[in-house]
Amino acid sequence: MHNVTLIKGDGIGPSIMDQAVKIIDASGAKIHWEEADAGMAAFNKFGTPIPDATLESIDRNRVAFKGPLTTAVSEGFRSINVELRKKYDLYANVRPAKSWAGVQTRYSDIDIVIVRENTEGLYAGLEHYLTSKRDIAESLAVVTRHGSERIVDYAFKYARDNNRKKVTVCHKANILKYTQGLFLETAKEVAARYPDIEFDSKIIDATCMHMVMNPQQFDVVVTTNMFGDILSDLTAGLVGGLGLIPGANIGADAALFEAVHGSAPDIADKNIANPTAVIMAGVMMLDHLHEHEAANKVKTALEKVIAEGKYVTPDLNSNAGVGTDVMGQAIIDAMA
Ligand code: NAI
Ligand code: MG
Repeated sequence: MHNVTLIKGDGIGPSIMDQAVKIIDASGAKIHWEEADAGMAAFNKFGTPIPDATLESIDRNRVAFKGPLTTAVSEGFRSINVELRKKYDLYANVRPAKSWAGVQTRYSDIDIVIVRENTEGLYAGLEHYLTSKRDIAESLAVVTRHGSERIVDYAFKYARDNNRKKVTVCHKANILKYTQGLFLETAKEVAARYPDIEFDSKIIDATCMHMVMNPQQFDVVVTTNMFGDILSDLTAGLVGGLGLIPGANIGADAALFEAVHGSAPDIADKNIANPTAVIMAGVMMLDHLHEHEAANKVKTALEKVIAEGKYVTPDLNSNAGVGTDVMGQAIIDAMA
């Protein structure tokens, strides 16, 4: 039995997480879900977006399965996502984007894994006004050799363990000579330790153009925090949208699995959110727990349902589309 902290989250969170949990339970994996609150839901209930009981649960279990959390775009509200990643030192954010049979997009052969540095860079949380009039603001990007070394090493290890051929580091060292320069320099040093894996480096803006025009050249991509945030939504767009991309936040002694997307307030409470991203996050979690058989079972059933295209949410089928709950049930039926 594995103990997992379950945070259903805000907006579309509860509806997609309920399906994911049902599916994982039906896969045969033995999970004991410990439900905990975070985000707006927790704020409204307890006056804090991250109650102590939730942190205690993650402290105990070291594995969390999390729905999206709403972060207000105003001062005074900190991002709980960023906070959890920093608190548990979840330094590697792994976001695979792969073409799906049955999902029509410009390309049908994309298979890119973004490995995003998750604890430093421009999201280090060092922001302030420089004047009392609040007309000059400053954000500090922090890049350390240690942080760069471990994320690039993670990317190369991931490539080796998953039979991947190439790691591309994306940077802006031509302009940000110190922070991005340190990241690139460290990446080159790490790459030298992996002669069996091809290494390439690209400037981030050019990367965006290449990724849209010729995405097949990318395999594993490693980059700093904000670039990874942006690039992973780009890769989501290439394979059919945000509803399809999972993310694993991995640290040395804790891991948190979630979708790349947010709480999608525009479609909340309509029973149309695509549960695929959180289900795939669940697959990554099952693999992390060494429940490989259950992981494969869930993935195969999900692939079958998406390929058939009948019981999928409207974002994947503009002619029809079924409810989040109907798609979830179809995946359980496909596992039987
Ligand atoms: P979003 O990812 O929630 O939505 C962007 C667009 O994608 C919307 O049109 C939405 O309807 C669509 N979409 C997202 N997930 C979908 C799904 N499963 N099925 C079908 N369509 C889907 O991004 P947005 O609107 O910028 O952010 C909303 C809130 O989520 C904000 O408060 C933001 O801070 C938070 N957020 C939380 C994240 C997390 O918890 N890890 C990650 C990203 C955003
Ligand atoms: Mg993002």
